[in-house]
Amino acid sequence: MTKTEIGGHTRLCGLIGNPVEHTVSPLIHNTLAGMLGHDLVYVPFHVEKDRIRDAVKGAYGLNILGLNVTVPYKSDVLGALAEIDPLAEKIGAVNTLVRREGGYKGYNTDISGLYRAMRIEGIKIEGEEIVLLGAGGAARAAAFLCGEKKAKRVYLLNRSPEKAGSLADEVNRAFDRECMEPMAVSDYEKLPCRPLLAIQGTSVGLHPNEEHAVIEDPEFYRRIHTAYDLIYNPEETKFMRLVREAGGRAFNGLKMLLYQGIAAYELWNEAQVPEEKIQEIYRLLQEKNR
Ligand code: ATR
Repeated sequence: MTKTEIGGHTRLCGLIGNPVEHTVSPLIHNTLAGMLGHDLVYVPFHVEKDRIRDAVKGAYGLNILGLNVTVPYKSDVLGALAEIDPLAEKIGAVNTLVRREGGYKGYNTDISGLYRAMRIEGIKIEGEEIVLLGAGGAARAAAFLCGEKKAKRVYLLNRSPEKAGSLADEVNRAFDRECMEPMAVSDYEKLPCRPLLAIQGTSVGLHPNEEHAVIEDPEFYRRIHTAYDLIYNPEETKFMRLVREAGGRAFNGLKMLLYQGIAAYELWNEAQVPEEKIQEIYRLLQEKNR
């Protein structure tokens, strides 16, 4: 960017987290601002654990328009907000803060971004039978999305079954439906033999441990008609390769990353980003991801 263009009217958005040094969010937001002619700059801020409240308060005092929030503060930040979107409140995590009268309002665009990314690939959640792998931070967003969008049944598989159990209980309670069924990942053979949609939400297979998949048995992959891996680095995870080798369709998580950013940008600027601009940003992300 041309830093000399920053002036008295320039609005500031940013990212708070720890670490933030490898984020691609500035690429998304600064490119969008340039494309759409918005006088806006996006900067990452490395925030220490005991400074998170100060950071949010200080950002508000500095008239900062919006913030993204990343690991490990997506829940810690809740107490510093003036208002929380109902779905973000249910999941207990926000990744986007939008400036409002009296403070920031928190949203979770990881959830809405994942939904948009899946929809764009023609993947439906409503009424589907889904196998969700993992019960950590990333899988949690997918689990709440499945609850919100009324999946018919979600088999929630995790290495430690207690964590699958507590996440399943939380989602079932939050949406007042018994749609989540927790299981140990080692029990995958007990899954129904009907074709399933899979969402891969564990960290297994993430660069540099690319030679692993959370389930290695090719038999498992015969039941998967479509898979969405929340990992985007590498471009094709081993999980995705195993799905494809068994004849299913597989997508990586790059569009989830893209659309969580687009949704945040749209909230901050009260504008819709045109589809062709979204595609341009996607191509930039793909280049960066290679
Ligand atoms: P993230 O933010 O990427 O979700 P996380 O919150 O640490 O990271 O969660 C990692 C997920 O990957 C968890 O579901 C974890 O399973 P456990 O809850 O049993 O730890 C899963 N995971 C990590 N390494 C794994 C492995 N080698 N085999 C199976 N699951 C694994």
